Amino acid sequence: MKDLTPDRASLDPIEIASIDEIRGLQFERLKWTLHHAYENQAPTRAKFDAAGVHPSDFKQLSDLSKFPFTTKQELRDAYPFGLFATPREQIRRIHGSSGTTGKPTVVGYTENDLNNWADLVARSMRASGTRPGDIVHVAYGYGLFTGGLGAHYGAERLGATVVPVSGGMTQRQVTLIEDFRPTTIMVTPSYFLSILDEYRHRGIDPRESPLQVGIFGAEPWTDSMRREIEQAFDMHAVDIYGLSEIMGPGVANECVETKDGLHIWEDHFFPEIIDPATGEPVPDGEPGELVFTTLTKEALPMVRYRTRDLSRLLPGTARSMRRMEKITGRADDMIILRGVNVFPSQVEELILKVEGLSPHWQIHLSREGRMDQMSVHVEATPDHADGESRAASAAALREAIKGVVGVTARIDVAAPGEVERSAGKARRVVDERPKD
Ligand code: DLL
Repeated sequence: MKDLTPDRASLDPIEIASIDEIRGLQFERLKWTLHHAYENQAPTRAKFDAAGVHPSDFKQLSDLSKFPFTTKQELRDAYPFGLFATPREQIRRIHGSSGTTGKPTVVGYTENDLNNWADLVARSMRASGTRPGDIVHVAYGYGLFTGGLGAHYGAERLGATVVPVSGGMTQRQVTLIEDFRPTTIMVTPSYFLSILDEYRHRGIDPRESPLQVGIFGAEPWTDSMRREIEQAFDMHAVDIYGLSEIMGPGVANECVETKDGLHIWEDHFFPEIIDPATGEPVPDGEPGELVFTTLTKEALPMVRYRTRDLSRLLPGTARSMRRMEKITGRADDMIILRGVNVFPSQVEELILKVEGLSPHWQIHLSREGRMDQMSVHVEATPDHADGESRAASAAALREAIKGVVGVTARIDVAAPGEVERSAGKARRVVDERPKD
């Protein structure tokens, strides 16, 4: 793999500023956000008043924990535009995240918000090893989802040549990569595995592909998956994190030279980790739920937004800003199976350790009598697709899950190509238990 460490001179000075300078900037910007939200978001003002707090109570960074959280439900209640803090005419773009109920969670951006977003995605791409002049293939979906357009404008801002492919039509993805020769691809990690399958299907060696870096996010993925991708393609696999409620992709990103967690762009977002059960903040280094307060957002300021994503805050390394550990799961995705907490990411780690299993997998939950059952549907690799190998892989995975996670799962090792694919975020958990 090529060394793609960016020049220090090309970084934004704040990325490598002193902690004191960063905290000072955060304090000023937090104060602004609290006032802006209180004065211009009616539901926020009502919530602060009910909790007996006022923006003027914010006198030091630690005072933030006196303010109430914001939840996704509040965005749903305000559907579509009820939380916008600027007149609708100043909103330049709307995005949304797909809701299971059919109505998306709606977010909006002013001109300045879009400008900051493009800057931060450009910064994220530079951290990933992409440079001005590179060709960037964007296979995140374009539309209400923030992935496609977020990546697109960031790549333009960086000075790259953008190929706006969007998701889907896997054969065409490979053709365009081979013909246009992009060095960067931006795509969900699970869909990139489908692109890998298509390379193999066509008999093209992925290591000969022009790709040097993949900027993968929008869904959880593990370090084992990183190794798998980096080996298959001889390219860097870097993690990008974000959520529409806070901005979209580019809230945090890994640095290609360290790949040790994602630096949070703390000049625009203030992170906290809380205990998901009690809501109490926990010290840096401790695991819990990520909470963000936006520092510059005009259209949709967010005070202490509960992401439900589980992580830890770690000190800076390649940049001064703090890192978040790769997302280890979601507070609401955790499966409680017969009293044992199971995270889908643990299952993925184990799958990738068993010889003969591919990273295409899905967990199905069902109920038999009063017992919840978990079955893992996973594909065999083409060279281990015969009955005997599949039985051996299934036994090895069952054993590993029992030993590490502590639950007995049913394992169904399917033939290559049989597990559901998606061109965007993969559906990893299918819950078929009756809703009571
Ligand atoms: O997924 C924004 C995005 C697009 C991020 C492209 C990165 C790349 P939403 O659709 O609002 O926004 O979904 C946000 O996706 O709360 C996490 O649960 C999950 N997620 C996003 N990035 C990562 C990641 C976009 N790198 C939700 N690792 C978040 C794990 C991620 N989970």
